[in-house]
Formats: sequence, structure tokens, C-alpha cells
Amino acid sequence: MSTATPPDGFPQAPLRATIGYAAPTSSPAEKKIRYVAHTIDVHDARQIRSGLSLDGEGFVLAEHEIRSAHLEDPAELARVYAPEIAEVVREATGASYVVPQTTWWSILPRTSEPLPTEVIAQLSRDGQTHYTVEGVTPRPAGNAHADYTPHTAEELLELVRSDPRVAVPPFRRFGIYQTWHVLNDPPHDNTLALADSRSVHDEDLVTYDNILGIPDEPGNTVRSRAGKASERHRWYYFSHLRTNEIIVFVGYDPARPNNVLHTGFNIPDAGPAARPRLSLEARFFAFFE
Ligand SMILES: [Fe+2]
Repeated sequence: MSTATPPDGFPQAPLRATIGYAAPTSSPAEKKIRYVAHTIDVHDARQIRSGLSLDGEGFVLAEHEIRSAHLEDPAELARVYAPEIAEVVREATGASYVVPQTTWWSILPRTSEPLPTEVIAQLSRDGQTHYTVEGVTPRPAGNAHADYTPHTAEELLELVRSDPRVAVPPFRRFGIYQTWHVLNDPPHDNTLALADSRSVHDEDLVTYDNILGIPDEPGNTVRSRAGKASERHRWYYFSHLRTNEIIVFVGYDPARPNNVLHTGFNIPDAGPAARPRLSLEARFFAFFE
């Protein structure tokens, strides 16, 4: 399929990328969403970067030199990295107070490096997902999805409220914002695509239970939304992302566009110099007075 042309003239041709969309017959009643491969046009959002907004497309590109040194250390991620990126989110969103989501998957690295064969064998033997294999960095998503529903956002808010380390201030509204950036220099073999939220209609989305890790633990079953294919969707990526560039996008916010479909995709013709993508994503509660 082809996808909608962006409103402005784009000097560079879009990438042709293959992503998964939920099968047209998908319904929330199904236990597992079946995905179908589609080829889409993905436009370089650098060409319209200054016009991007959280109120329009639902995503922006911020700049921030990350100071944390040991991004593989969970303790340092929580102590140094999370407050650093929370400040980026606060500035981008206009929120008065921003705290990280309090689940194990709130800050998550991903890599497109191929899984070792013994891990693949283990996954097929145990029917697990890579999220549950100790020492394995999760792989990029390959299907169009939006992580949150209002119900999930409220459930996760309760986890934040019940966490003794977090003091939730009085607020008028709250939202969940997601960040994404690379940890290695371009060129990459895989990156993030995001759809302009205004091009995604509610009927293009089907809710499903996204299980992250051990299902019974609080916060590990997330009511998410998978995207169904539509010619209307306008897809974007940012070419040659650097480590000081942070994509901030709406996960959930009743006052902003909530249909920011996104997915990883393999960059076509990335070339022999392309490195496996190594990225770090994070999720934050933003409280607005
Ligand atoms: Fe996601």
C-alpha cells in the first residue's frame, strides 16, 4: 500500500518501509492480534521539524546532551537518567511536574542486533517473549501500535500514587509521555516511525493486552492499541538521529492527540556501514496544574 502524502512539499523521497498492521478483521475479543506486513511511505520529519508539535502531530524532537555515563546500569538510569529526561519532558509538554512511570519497563533499551541462536531456540522451546529472558536486550517493535488506553493510564497512575518514593502533587490533568533516542551514532539499520496523530482515526485502532514480562505482576499487562492499515496514515521518521536528539511523543493525554501510532522499522538500503540500532526509551507521568 501507499500512504498519504504530507501537506507540505517534501524535497526528499520517502523511505519505503515494511511494518506490521493488525489484520483488518482484528477485534478486542481475539486473544492475540494477527499482524500483516504492509509497505508504507515514511517521510523524513526533519524537513518539517520546526513545525512539529505535541498538539498537532503528537511528537517533537528535543535536543539534550545526556550526562549519565552508565546507561546499562539500572540504578544509574533511575538516579541520574530519569530525572534528566523528565526535565526534557517537562519543557516539551509544559507540565508542572514530571516523574517516571513506576514499572520495570519504564526505561527500556532495545537493539536490532540479531538474537543469539541459543536464545531463539530457548524462546521457541518455552513459548516466551524476549522480555522475559535474563540478560537479553528487548528487540525493536515491528508493528504499528499506541501503548496506552485511558484505562491503562489510570491503572498505572495508581501504581505511581502507591509508590512511597513518589509524591504526586495536586493536578488538574495528567498525561503519559514517551521518549526515544539512540545511544549509538548513525547510520543505523533500524529506527522509529511515528504517525501524525491527526491522520489516525479511532476506528483504525484495536485494543489488545500487551504483556510485558511476567503477566501476573502489577503493571505488566498493558491494555494497548494496535493499528489497522489505512491509506490516510502519514508516517514520519527522523533521518540520521544522533545521541543528543530525543523524540518526545504523546502516550496518553486527554488534552492532546492520543493516536500516535509508532513502530520500529528496518531502514531500506541502510548499507554496509549501518550499525544495529541501540535505543533507550522511557515513559513519564506529566502532571498539569
Ligand atoms: Fe510503543
